[in-house]
Amino acid sequence: MKFFIDTASLADIQEAQDMGILDGVTTNPSLMAKEGISGDKAVKDHYKAICDIVDGDVSAEVISTDFEGMVREGEELVKISDQIVVKIPMIKDGVKALRYFSNKGIRTNCTLIFSAGQALLAAKAGATYMSPFLGRLDDISTDSLTLIEDIRTIYDNYGYETQILAASVRHPMHIIECAKIGADVMTGPLSAIVALLKHPLTDIGLQQFLADHARVNQK
Ligand code: E4P
Repeated sequence: MKFFIDTASLADIQEAQDMGILDGVTTNPSLMAKEGISGDKAVKDHYKAICDIVDGDVSAEVISTDFEGMVREGEELVKISDQIVVKIPMIKDGVKALRYFSNKGIRTNCTLIFSAGQALLAAKAGATYMSPFLGRLDDISTDSLTLIEDIRTIYDNYGYETQILAASVRHPMHIIECAKIGADVMTGPLSAIVALLKHPLTDIGLQQFLADHARVNQK
């Protein structure tokens, strides 16, 4: 399973990269706004800074909602680095843009996926990645993990190569359950990734090992 971090914070990206487990980064306009990044040049410079930290794919989202605008923006974004993956919303013109980019060999991430039907369309249009939003489905009392299972079944039935990028991950159990189902990638905040390493018995065990070592070595 690939691990992406879902943030525009350079500090968080650097921390995950330094752990040696990071495969890529996803961003969205809200995450960029949270870091106070505005204006075309600043946005592009920020994507470049992210690409300089991480070795893998970096999803950069278009703002346009019409086909021509998405193509124009996407073609500009991929000039920043060959790590850039153009993030396109699941709307009618977005599906058209996914097919356009796929035909040109430009990688895409279809975002805002909330149903199996949308996932099927993204795969048909040749998306590289497709992002179902777990946390936001759970927020409205809908079982997000059943959706991941359904998409896995559909993609395996037909051999679609579009990668399931489990997004809107909020906690470590989302990651573990998605790994059990066979999602290709997960993207979440640094807190969810770091939470994976926590276990009280690890802390107690380490404390005991260090105490025993200190007891016999302090002379
Ligand atoms: C996906 O690529 C999105 O950036 C993201 O996962 C949304 O997560 P949220 O629901 O926590 O905002």
